[in-house]
Amino acid sequence: MAEGSHALPPGARRFEPRQTGAVDSARDDAVLGIDIGGSGIKAAPVDVATGRLLAERRRIETPQPATPPAVTEVVAALVDAFAWTGPVGATFPAVIRAGRVETAANVDEAWIGTAITELFGAAIGRPVTVVNDADAAGVAEMRFGAGLGRPGVVIMVTLGTGIGSALFVDGRLVPNTELGHLELDGHDAEQRASAAVREAKGLSWEKWGRRVSRYLKHLERLFWPDLLIVGGGVSKRFDRFAPYLDTRTEVVPAKAGNDAGIAGAALVAADASWRVSSGAAPPP
Ligand code: BGC
Repeated sequence: MAEGSHALPPGARRFEPRQTGAVDSARDDAVLGIDIGGSGIKAAPVDVATGRLLAERRRIETPQPATPPAVTEVVAALVDAFAWTGPVGATFPAVIRAGRVETAANVDEAWIGTAITELFGAAIGRPVTVVNDADAAGVAEMRFGAGLGRPGVVIMVTLGTGIGSALFVDGRLVPNTELGHLELDGHDAEQRASAAVREAKGLSWEKWGRRVSRYLKHLERLFWPDLLIVGGGVSKRFDRFAPYLDTRTEVVPAKAGNDAGIAGAALVAADASWRVSSGAAPPP
């Protein structure tokens, strides 16, 4: 997509990693954000006032199988790598309610029922906030990206290995919406329209774009959103599939890029107002 074609709204800042060497984890505006994905686990300290990464992120391959103890070890290694003693927020690609993993669509089944905040907290010796990956990306997007200052109903979908979703009402998150599992053409939507399906099936941008369009129109009919934000790595190539999206709702690509999960995890950990009592995680 052409540089500058998606100018930031006034007041928003781009996510620009800064290499500043060791980051003081006692700073009260810095949180270590950890983004747990199917292929990699990435972390960086985040300035929660600006959403900027304070140091270059580190990435460790997701262990296979990605069992709870194996993933916990990587989380602890990343905390150690930054010699981090401050607050920590992490994403996880499943429903997280009150610090527990409830589902496992794209993760090891052993996670179901795991008290993830307790597990990570015990490994690193202090509380950790854990939030659904798409919710975290959505929070970053609403705070610093394409959703900044957008009232009403905003839905962000992340098109990746699966399809994640984040629903906002006047800027407030409704946690754990699982709109990637709506039915599309008789299948789970993420089996039809995720970025992974496009790659695995070698679908043309047009063919896949039309599927994404059908999916977004389905969301429209159910939620009547004011704005749809498309995230995930493929959103960098939004201009390739945008011509096939014929929704009545405005659709825009995410702006926070690869670091949205890291930044969003940190934001949710830093600001309890992103959580609801039944949802994202218990207060630290
Ligand atoms: C999971 C969601 C997750 C999404 C993106 C889906 O399969 O059910 O919880 O947000 O994948 O990782």
